[in-house]
This record gives sequence, structure tokens and C-alpha cells, in this order.
Amino acid sequence: MVYLNGNFIKKNQASVSVMDRGFLFGDGVYEVIPVYQGKLFRLTAHLKRLQNSLDAIKIPSPHSNNEWLEILNQLLGYSQPLNQSLYLQITRGSDTQRRHSFEALTPTVYIESSPLIPKTKQALKQGFSAITQTDIRWSRCDIKATSLLANVLYSQNAKENQVEEIILHRNDIVTEGATSNVFIIKNKTLFTHPSGAHILSGITRDLALESALACKLPINESVFSVDELLNADEVWISSSTREIMPITQIDNQLINHGKIGTYWECVYNHYQQLKND
Ligand code: PDD
Repeated sequence: MVYLNGNFIKKNQASVSVMDRGFLFGDGVYEVIPVYQGKLFRLTAHLKRLQNSLDAIKIPSPHSNNEWLEILNQLLGYSQPLNQSLYLQITRGSDTQRRHSFEALTPTVYIESSPLIPKTKQALKQGFSAITQTDIRWSRCDIKATSLLANVLYSQNAKENQVEEIILHRNDIVTEGATSNVFIIKNKTLFTHPSGAHILSGITRDLALESALACKLPINESVFSVDELLNADEVWISSSTREIMPITQIDNQLINHGKIGTYWECVYNHYQQLKND
């Protein structure tokens, strides 16, 4: 079952107009919300980021937080198993003709839920590879927009190169991954690109920082270069579906001789506890 504009229907019966601006222009925003043991994880933070994205592109919010909660829980009622990933998309809606500028329209709301199967600790401990590439995206990466052409091309590139992620850099400064945030540890300090227009500030990023503090790892939200990335003691990526993942090889160069760091393990364990709170 999926949710579309007020109705819970079968996915193969869900359709939108060809005049929907999401289809024509990628004119919309989205959220991905993890659900553990049937419970929405960090819903308030996700709804706040959704509101920020809507405000940034001038789409009026179609629902209050209480209404979202009700809709999401109703959809989860149709879902098995208990761990799910909710995809929520709001587009500006359908117009009568294709034009770049817009009038006030009724937003299209689509939500689907799919099983979330995070990698086990054992699997994560194998470590993952990444490659670096120039960040060609626009300068409003803080908006979780559905227009994801650059990210789509990066992800395809990751697939073709058989790596987990593409790590992006702008003027030699590491921004984030194609679908994740990036962290390094150097001199027993955790560094990650500051929030702002050049990254999507992940909800998992915040939780990784919270976990780092619990592990007595000082955090420094400041920029670092590609060279610092390659010479880091530990590199992690984070996202709602991947959680916190250790990267042990970048551009064919081993990080920390290819070994998983001790800080990662502590942060991973703390993150798992947060999920049960
Ligand atoms: N993407 N940066 C980018 C560019 C992302 O696409 C994502 C997540 C993140 C991490 O955000 P969060 O921790 O809130 O999931 C950072 C989602 C999972 C997606 O596009 O499917």
C-alpha cells in the first residue's frame, strides 16, 4: 500500500498527472524516515527539515505535524516487517500547461514504505570503498529536493566502479557523499563539513555527532581537504538507510591500513542504543 493525496491505495494503482511539476521539472522535495520496531525514528527532526525544504521552494505545507504522524502511522499499519524506510515526496502539484514559473497549486503528496534492512555490525566491519569526484551540484544542497540528476549520475558511477559511495569535493574541500554525509577522524578529533548550503545536513549526521560526544570524541564542524580525507585515521559516511558506515579505501588508497577504527565501533554501538530509546 502507498499513500497518494489522501488515499491509501495499491502501488500499481497509484498514478499522477503528466502535468505534475514533479514529473516536468523535478519541482518537489522529499524525506526518507527510518522506522525501527514500528517506531518512527527522529520524526520531529525529519519533519522540521521537510518544512525547511518546503519553505525554501515556496510550497505551502500540506499537513500539520499531527496530520503527518497520523498518515505515516496509518501507512505503517499496512507494512511488514517492523523496520521500514518511509519515502515521503511533495511536489508543487499539477498545472494546466508547462511553464517554469508557478501559480498556487495543490501539492501532490506521495508516501511509500519499504523494508529497511541495515547491514549487520559484522558486515560493516568489512569496511567499504569510495572514490572522490568534483561536486558539480548547485549551491542549495541543504534543500532535500527531488531534482537529483547529479546524485543519480554519481550513484550510477559508484555502481559501475563497484564502490559504496562517491565522496564529493568543491575547490578541494570535501562536502559530502552523493547520498550521505562524510566524517573523518584526525588527531582524535571528528571533523565534518559544517551545515549550510553546500551539504544536506543529515539527521544521521546529528546522531553521529551526538554518539561521538558520548564516546568522548571531540567534534569539530569545520572543512577538510581531499588530502586530509585520504590521510585520515578513520573515515565514515552516514545516512538514514546506511546508518554509520566505515570507509577503509578511497581512490584505491587504504585508510588506516584498511582497518576499522575503534571510534567507529563505539559510535556504532551508541547509535544502535539511540534506535532503541
Ligand atoms: N539521502 N547528503 C545527501 C546528499 C543525501 O542524499 C543524504 C540522504 C544525506 C544523509 O541524510 P540523512 O542522514 O538525513 O538520511 C546526506 C537519502 C537517504 C536518500 O536520498 O535516499
